Amino acid sequence: MAPYKVGYLIGSLATASINRKLAKALVRLAPRELDMTEISFKDLPLYSYDYDADFPAAAKAFKNAIAPVDAILFVTPEYNRSIPGGLKNAIDWASRPYGNNSFTRKPSAVIGTSPGAIGTAVAQQSLRSVLSFCNSPQMNAPEAYIHFTPGLIGDDGEVTAKSTENSCAISWSSFTPSLQGCFRCFHGPLEC
Ligand code: FNR
Repeated sequence: MAPYKVGYLIGSLATASINRKLAKALVRLAPRELDMTEISFKDLPLYSYDYDADFPAAAKAFKNAIAPVDAILFVTPEYNRSIPGGLKNAIDWASRPYGNNSFTRKPSAVIGTSPGAIGTAVAQQSLRSVLSFCNSPQMNAPEAYIHFTPGLIGDDGEVTAKSTENSCAISWSSFTPSLQGCFRCFHGPLEC
């Protein structure tokens, strides 16, 4: 099967981010047909529509990185029951200028990990609402809320708990069919 290009955004800017560890685990466990690339947003300034007439280089580079990928995976922490401000800022950049929304018909999926028991569930719901408005068709199921415990995922992305590895594998097994469904709807016969 021809590879799908998947760009992934890690919601955390922290050097010791547990969501970066989760992203590494997901890259390790990704099916062969998915070609994974991180899309960084750490150099973006704070968005204002004052920039819409002429985006700064970092914002142009960010939108140019999103354009060629077939889908976006968000791996995000929960900050104050939503997504971190840096990630929201990145989404705002990508969604503008008006009429040039990078997420239009760009399939997406959401996952995250937190030391808290609900494992980023509220942040993921908040992100889903944003992505809906941005017209990104999302993989709705399965949901994956990863409760992080010390040592669960190593710095190299090795998962130590079979149950967590299984959760990641189950999510991945639904992702390609979800992408195929999206592309059939966008490019296939009208009855889709
Ligand atoms: C948090 N944390 C947190 N955890 C959670 O489960 N729900 C929450 O609402 C919050 N809120 C929150 C706000 C802020 C500003 C910080 C810094 C942290 C804890 C958070 O899950 C923990 O720091 C994780 O390590 C964050 O993930 P990364 O950044 O390590 O990937």
